[in-house]
Amino acid sequence: MSDSLETADDAPPPPEVDRPRDLFSKFDPLIAEREALLATGVRDPFAIVMEKVTSPTEAVIQGRKTILLGTYNYMGMTFDPDVVAAGKKALDEFGSGTTGSRVLNGTYDPHRDVEAALRDFYGTEHAIVFSTGYQANLGMISTLAGKGDYIILDADSHASIYDGCWLGNAEIVRFRHNSVEDLDRRLARLPREAGKLVVLEGVYSMLGDVAPLPEMIAAAKKHGAMILVDEAHGMGFFGGHGRGVYEEQGVEDQVDFVVGTFSKSVGTVGGFCVSNHPKFEVLRLVCRPYVFTASLPPSVVATAATSIRKLMHAGAKRAHLWENSRRLHQGLRELGFTLGTQEAQSAIIAVVLPSQEQAVSLWQGLLERGLYVNLARPPATPAGMFLLRCSLCAEHSSEQVGEILTMFASAGRATGCIA
Ligand SMILES: Cc1ncc(COP(=O)(O)O)c(C=O)c1O
Repeated sequence: MSDSLETADDAPPPPEVDRPRDLFSKFDPLIAEREALLATGVRDPFAIVMEKVTSPTEAVIQGRKTILLGTYNYMGMTFDPDVVAAGKKALDEFGSGTTGSRVLNGTYDPHRDVEAALRDFYGTEHAIVFSTGYQANLGMISTLAGKGDYIILDADSHASIYDGCWLGNAEIVRFRHNSVEDLDRRLARLPREAGKLVVLEGVYSMLGDVAPLPEMIAAAKKHGAMILVDEAHGMGFFGGHGRGVYEEQGVEDQVDFVVGTFSKSVGTVGGFCVSNHPKFEVLRLVCRPYVFTASLPPSVVATAATSIRKLMHAGAKRAHLWENSRRLHQGLRELGFTLGTQEAQSAIIAVVLPSQEQAVSLWQGLLERGLYVNLARPPATPAGMFLLRCSLCAEHSSEQVGEILTMFASAGRATGCIA
């Protein structure tokens, strides 16, 4: 036996191994808060299952027929017979999915067709479709603004806008929600020669308030910035063609990029950006959230194309949606609820509650009466607010709006939210 070999007794002790730190421990406060809430006997507002969906405005939840007032199905296109038929046809003709990226094997005829429908709808030269609206913002923002550039965004921007900033390498500057003055002041501090992208939303989805786009855009232009407007919650029912708030406010020719989604007024899933920028098509080669993911199933883009073309002629639906929104806003105000806006500015009416407990108990009271609304809490909401967000649909009948108000009155009184 060689001298150099150690016996088991001589071997050095194994190095001490640290116990792995549980990476979930940072969520302990949230888990505890949730458990405490559920221990009071309320239903989990974030675990609702729709057992059946019978129309754009009604579903069965826990065996009960329920009016849906918490979807983004603003124009009620999900059960439109032409939309459904287009999806079935594409499913038969092209199969269930593409299994590939748009830049390789994942562009089928329906993908080209939905981009043509978007160009017609928006009257733009270019349209690019992403797999979700979230990815559209991730892709557009992170690709447009690179190292040395600046992204200037509203503090209340949607998570996908923030995540688009974080995915890229640009400097991020936030301005106070809807404050033209603060936007102007912050832009003035940036290097004159730097590339700048101002990101705005037509409708801010938590409170349902609308941006003063002409003033915002004037400030951005003064400082040489390009402008991207997210019209996720404006498409379909703002403006003469339903293009969004930027159309309604008359600034169509001043916006460089419009981002949108198929998951709201269009009634399916997917995201997009439209633009007249002459170099726009290069994005198909350089935009990572476009290149490195599978394209949408052909049935989905076929439903989207049909829906978008129908939305071009949906004046009567638009008018009814606005009627519903104004009536619900007025009715809730008269009942004594605190609302996110002074008047109905969009199809979102946010009821502001002072605490999580009140918000959840009203939410549950409404559900027990047959009404589903969305509960929103920090960090998704501005200023730590607890909200019940009501979003109206063009397919809600006047009778349903009446029923909704009756349920709010009864649940509001039973839970002490109103006198
Ligand atoms: C303003 C805004 N932008 C983008 C998105 C993302 O859309 P999608 O559901 O298609 O991912 C949303 C979704 O709620 C949104 O509210």
